Amino acid sequence: MFNSELMKKLSDCFGPSGREKYIRELIIDEIKDYVDEISTDPLGNLIARKKGSGKKIMFSAHMDQIGLIVTHVDEKGFLRFTNVGGLKAKNLLGLHMVFANGLEGVICQEELKDKEKLTMGKLFLDVGVTDKEFVKQNFRVGDMCVFKSQYYETEDCVICKAADDRVGCYILIEALKNHPNTDNDVYYVFSVQEEVGCRGAKTAGYSINPDLAIAVDVTATGDTPDEIIMEVKLDGGAAIKIKDNSLIVHPEVKDMLTYLSEKNNIKYQYEILEFGGTDAGPIHLSREGVPSGVISIPTRNLHTSGEIFSKKDVEECIKLVRAAAGH
Ligand code: CO
Ligand code: ZN
Repeated sequence: MFNSELMKKLSDCFGPSGREKYIRELIIDEIKDYVDEISTDPLGNLIARKKGSGKKIMFSAHMDQIGLIVTHVDEKGFLRFTNVGGLKAKNLLGLHMVFANGLEGVICQEELKDKEKLTMGKLFLDVGVTDKEFVKQNFRVGDMCVFKSQYYETEDCVICKAADDRVGCYILIEALKNHPNTDNDVYYVFSVQEEVGCRGAKTAGYSINPDLAIAVDVTATGDTPDEIIMEVKLDGGAAIKIKDNSLIVHPEVKDMLTYLSEKNNIKYQYEILEFGGTDAGPIHLSREGVPSGVISIPTRNLHTSGEIFSKKDVEECIKLVRAAAGH
């Protein structure tokens, strides 16, 4: 049964890269009764452990989401900004954004003759306030905001913001609550700052020093009109990564995830992503190297305010995480 209440909470929680306090607190609250140890490292990664005497397995899903950061508040009370993570100017026009304090704004553009020339510098946030003093007092350089959009579910799918990677967090939370009976020493990591270059995973991988690491993150699909050519599709099952720009999955890890899927009747598909990376990128290069893989959730419309994934795929991913934790 899909836990809509949990997924909605995770999607709605404020937490752009470097500002993961609220989402970390939410996840701690959700998992604290199910773990043997729980800690937050100096960068802010949340590390939950199910102790064992066997091999050390690290799972990683990132807590942070993409957003915008205020660079300048002008005399008229408009805010200039730049991106935190992968956002393009042309996708931002008209979007509603929300700050940590609950205040909102809408993204507008300067008058442009050539729409093709739209850059981040030609956009500004209108916070709908005519009192310039109020704007000065409530919006400062360095404040971050994220998409504001309504969480929505159909029978099959979820449409929401920050599915990247709150759906990965959801999968780890659900797997952790149903942790398999095993001797393995399992670390469930909720990492910070993935969207700006997998920075949290780098230090978490170093400190945990696992025998095996598996990132759980979203991936693109090739199943929409005029899409990139890609095998992955919604309802195709858990996507076992083979390659992206940050990692060539260790053949033994790929084979193990395939074997576990077939043995446990888990629907799966192979994934090659021709751009981007995940937490497994820096983790597999940690110390003398860590055999690493990725379980991906097929997701349409990545890095927009309406990312779409299938609830069935999520169930298959949870099963595969549990199988890997117990293997
Ligand atoms: Co992302
Ligand atoms: Zn991600």
